[in-house]
Amino acid sequence: MSDAPPREPLVLVVDDDAGSRRAMALTLTTDGRRVEEFGDADSALSRAIDDPSVGLVVTDLKMPGKTGIELATDLAAARPDVSVLLVTAFGDVDTLLKAKDLGTVDYVAKPVGRDDLRLRASAALGRARQAGEIKQLRERLDKRYGFEAIVGVSAVMERVFDVLRKVAPTKMNVLITGESGTGKELVANALHHNSPRRPRAFVALNCGAIPREIIESELFGHEKGAFTGALVKRMGRIEQAHGGTLFLDEVSEMPPDLQVKFLRVLEERRVTPVGGNDSKESDFRLVSATNRDLKKEIEAGRFRQDLYYRIKGVVVDLPPLRERREDLALLAERFREVFAREHDRPVTGFTSAALSALVQYPWPGNVREMKSAIEWAVFSAAGPRIEVADLPPDVKGDAEGEGSGEEARAESAGYGSSSPILIGKTMAEIEKEAILIALQASGGNRRKAAERLDIGLRTLQRKLKEYRGGVGGDDGEDEADDDGPES
Ligand SMILES: Nc1ncnc2c1ncn2[C@@H]1O[C@H](COP(=O)(O)OP(=O)(O)OP(=O)(O)O)[C@@H](O)[C@H]1O
Ligand SMILES: [Mg+2]
Repeated sequence: MSDAPPREPLVLVVDDDAGSRRAMALTLTTDGRRVEEFGDADSALSRAIDDPSVGLVVTDLKMPGKTGIELATDLAAARPDVSVLLVTAFGDVDTLLKAKDLGTVDYVAKPVGRDDLRLRASAALGRARQAGEIKQLRERLDKRYGFEAIVGVSAVMERVFDVLRKVAPTKMNVLITGESGTGKELVANALHHNSPRRPRAFVALNCGAIPREIIESELFGHEKGAFTGALVKRMGRIEQAHGGTLFLDEVSEMPPDLQVKFLRVLEERRVTPVGGNDSKESDFRLVSATNRDLKKEIEAGRFRQDLYYRIKGVVVDLPPLRERREDLALLAERFREVFAREHDRPVTGFTSAALSALVQYPWPGNVREMKSAIEWAVFSAAGPRIEVADLPPDVKGDAEGEGSGEEARAESAGYGSSSPILIGKTMAEIEKEAILIALQASGGNRRKAAERLDIGLRTLQRKLKEYRGGVGGDDGEDEADDDGPES
C-alpha cells in the first residue's frame, strides 16, 4: 500500500472572487497538474484534511469568513506538510510578518504575474514534497520501532500488547522483565516511539555493561575537574533524556550507592552532575529492564526496595519463547524474510520438517537465539526452502537423528549464560575486547589499563595502534594525551 507511486500533489486555489480564482487556477494547471477551486477557507481546509494528496494551498487574504492567514494557521496545525502561498497586496508588512512565523508559508504580490505564480508554486511544492518525505521516513521508523516490529499472536503476547498500548502514551515508569533475548530492548524502544516523547531522545544505558567506576558520571554527567581524568565537562544520560525517555537496561546491576542517588533524582526530578553544586530540572520517562528476579535481589540485599517500588510503575513481563510456542512459526517467517532481503538470498520458505524442528527446539536463548538461527539457515540454504540440514547443529539436534541434540543444547545453554562475551570469538577478538574494557575501566588511562592486564605499556600502545589500522599519532604523543594529569 505504502509502496504505491506517489500521486502528483493536488493544488487548492482559494479566493471569493471567482474571476481571479479562475485566472490563478488556469495559470497553475500546467503539466497536467491537478487544481481545485474553492470560494471560502473552510471548505478548502476540510478538503486538505480529507485528501492526503493535497500539497499546496494558494489563498487570497481577504475573504468573507476565515481570512487567508487564519487558513494558513489552521493548516499549519492540521496538515503541517502542506505548503501555503498567500496572495497579498504589496507592502502588507503585518501579514508578511505573521506569515513568516508559519514555516511553510510564502507569498505572491498582487497583481499576480503568471510566471511569478508558477515559480513560487513549484518551489512551494518542493517544500511540501520534502515534508512528505520526512513523514515517510517517520513511518519507516514506526515500522522498525513501533508495535508492528514486535511479532506475537499468542494469548500471552496479546496481553502484553494490551498493556503496552495503554501505558505507552502515559508518563508512567515501566519495568520490563523477562529472560535474556525475550525482546526487552525492543519493547523499550516501542514504548518511546508510541509516546508523545517520540520526537525527543531515547537514551539507553546498560548498567551491567559499564564499569562501575564510570557509571556514575555516565548517568549524572560531571563537571570539569570533578575527578582525575575529568578533563572536560560532560553531559550525563539523565540530562540527555530530558523531555524524552531514559532506558536503564540491566537495572539490577546498578551499584548500591548509585541506587540511592538515582532514587533521589526520581523523587526530586532534579539532577546534579558529579562535582557540581547546581541541580537542573530533569523530565524523563523511565523505562527499566532486567532479566533477574528483583525481589530476590532485594532479599539478598543487592537492590533497594524503595527504588524497586519507584521504578516498577507498570511491570511488563515478557514470556520466554517456550511458553508461547504459537509465535514460533510467525517469528521464523519474519526473520527469514528479513534476512533473505538483507543478504539478498532467494530463500522463500521452510520445509515442513525444518519448521517442525524449529517448533520442537526449546529456545533457551529465546528470540535472539531464533533470530541468529534463522540468519544462519538463510545463509546455509542451497535451495529456495530452508531444510533441516540448514539449521544450526543444536537446533536440528534430534531431528537429524544424531542423538547429540540434548548435549549440544545443554552445552550451548551453559555457555550462553556463563560467558556470553567469549562464545564464537577468536583469541584476537577476545584480546581486543579485554584491552578496550580495561581501558574503559581505567578511565582511558593507558598506564593503569596496562597494569590491570599485566602487560607492558608499549605492548598496549602497539595493540591500540593496530586496532586503529596502524595509523595515527606516535606513541609518545598519545601517551601524553591520554594520561593527562597523571603522567
Ligand atoms: N517479539 C519479537 N518480534 C520480533 N523480534 C523480536 C521479538 N522479540 C525480540 N526480538 C528480536 O530479538 C533480539 C533480542 O531482543 P532484545 O535485545 O530486545 O532482547 P532482551 O530481552 O533485551 O535481551 P537481553 O536480556 O539479553 O538484553 C533483537 O534483535 C530483537 O529485535
Ligand atoms: Mg537487552
